[in-house]
Amino acid sequence: MKNIDLDSHLIESLVAIEAARDLETLNTLDSELLGKKSVITLAKKNLSDLDADERRSKGKQINEIRDQIKDLIASKRTALVEEHQSVQLENERLDLTELDSGFRLGHHHVITQTWERLEDLFVGMGYTVSEGPEIEDEWHNFGALNFPLSHPARDMYDTLYVDYGEPQSTLLRTHTSPVQIRVMENQEPPIYSIMPGRVFRSDTADATHMPVFHQIEALVVDRGITFADLAGTLESFTSAYFGEEFVTRLRPSYFPFTEPSAEFDIRRPDGTWLELAGCGMVHPNVLRAGGLDPEEWSGFAFGFGLDRLALMRHGIDDLRELFRNDYRFLSQF
Ligand code: DAH
Repeated sequence: MKNIDLDSHLIESLVAIEAARDLETLNTLDSELLGKKSVITLAKKNLSDLDADERRSKGKQINEIRDQIKDLIASKRTALVEEHQSVQLENERLDLTELDSGFRLGHHHVITQTWERLEDLFVGMGYTVSEGPEIEDEWHNFGALNFPLSHPARDMYDTLYVDYGEPQSTLLRTHTSPVQIRVMENQEPPIYSIMPGRVFRSDTADATHMPVFHQIEALVVDRGITFADLAGTLESFTSAYFGEEFVTRLRPSYFPFTEPSAEFDIRRPDGTWLELAGCGMVHPNVLRAGGLDPEEWSGFAFGFGLDRLALMRHGIDDLRELFRNDYRFLSQF
């Protein structure tokens, strides 16, 4: 025992602790210097060989040395933990200075702008704005719109069903047309209403499709409404929204909820045609489903995709860009 030189052991220990660069090394040192096989423990065991006086003074020295080693390990540990945290913070730092060129007011998303512009336009033409639920029942989304049960027309829509109630009874609405039914259920004609909203289909996202997108629906029900009213409304909408230089056309088409049905296109100043909307005269079965007498009332409806309007207006060629939410991209519009 007497040949253990505690003073130089202390110095060596302090040097080793000071040199530790990480917590793992420090923990190893901790058990080497203070654990069962440490010099300190050994020295304590050997105390029994000494006489009472020597044992007291040697014991005191050992304890002091042990305390010093302990203290140093503790403060080294604190230092290493702090260092580790600041390295981590530095690594996780995000450079936000790009966004910080002075005070900037935010603005609405380009889809919201398009949505509100359309609302303003139709409100200016005397229409009201209505909304319906995004989670719909099978009846409003299909049945009431004259899609017979298990009719292939239902497959036109890649429907996302919600696991609720009977199988395939609840779904994420595939279009805004069910809101037509809800409006007829809730208000007496005359009805002049638009219904903007979010719709869902199990589509894979690409430059022109998203599984979540937006439509705006229009429904007019009154006495003596004819196809000419529909054509005239689409015509005035087009020149108000796009400008006088845009020309419209209607092509025969098919939708279960309108009869006759048409596809509505606009011609851009460069001469190319853009397919914009589906439209037609509200089918008598749909009026009946909405609780109205087709002998008394007639109406027209149309519905189109809002996202595509936004793309066209701003010359954006990839729909996905709108939803990546890159501030630098969106702040252009
Ligand atoms: N709901 C149709 C769709 O999503 C669009 C549509 C076509 C709406 C004709 C109408 C309409 O109101 O009359 O493809």
